[in-house]
Amino acid sequence: MSNLKIAIIISSTRSNRVGLQAAEYVESIASKRSDMNFEIVDLRDYPLPFFDEVASNAFVPSKNPVAQKWQHFIAQFDGYVFVTAEYNNSITAALKNALDYAYPEWNRKAAAYFSYGSAGGARAVQHLRDICIELQMAPVRHSVLIQGADFFKVMTGEVKVKDLEYLEPLVNEMLEQLSWWAKALKEARKK
Ligand SMILES: Cc1cc2nc3c(=O)[nH]c(=O)nc-3n(C[C@H](O)[C@H](O)[C@H](O)COP(=O)(O)O)c2cc1C
Repeated sequence: MSNLKIAIIISSTRSNRVGLQAAEYVESIASKRSDMNFEIVDLRDYPLPFFDEVASNAFVPSKNPVAQKWQHFIAQFDGYVFVTAEYNNSITAALKNALDYAYPEWNRKAAAYFSYGSAGGARAVQHLRDICIELQMAPVRHSVLIQGADFFKVMTGEVKVKDLEYLEPLVNEMLEQLSWWAKALKEARKK
């Protein structure tokens, strides 16, 4: 089997977001694996309007060129690592909009979560798991979070994500679970 293709999706689009640093950290660990290839996906590169379609593209194909480009792009991946911030106890509006702009492209793919926030982004991840199930993804059990004092130090620039050494084995366990599901689903999609 050729290597699995995994997107690392940054949920936030603010110019001074923590999300980019977090995604680059996940990629730095992930790129040590030989079974999966990773690509950071920045929603800023896909300036989707707030959802303005006739219906979900499960039912009516999109005519919007940015939406078509987004759907075509994400369709190529076998799984996704969502690097998610928590905005008012949930995921960012930008990520929810991007998720809504596709349907079959997400189906039967594996999903994993790396989050950050005062409570570790745990509430955002819980919402995101639910959304992913509706989109027929398979969320893996193990997620990784940066919380409390560590998160505030990252947010204020006092430490970098890569300085939090305890994260690496946790990310590795998450990737191991993602690999298993992404591989199983890739095989199953071929049948
Ligand atoms: C609109 C908004 C709402 C937020 N709500 C929460 C929240 O509910 N829980 C939390 O832990 N942090 C919250 N925060 C703080 C974010 O966790 C923090 O700003 C983080 O850096 C956001 O991710 P980003 O830098 O990638 O945009 C919020 C920030 C913003 C801008």
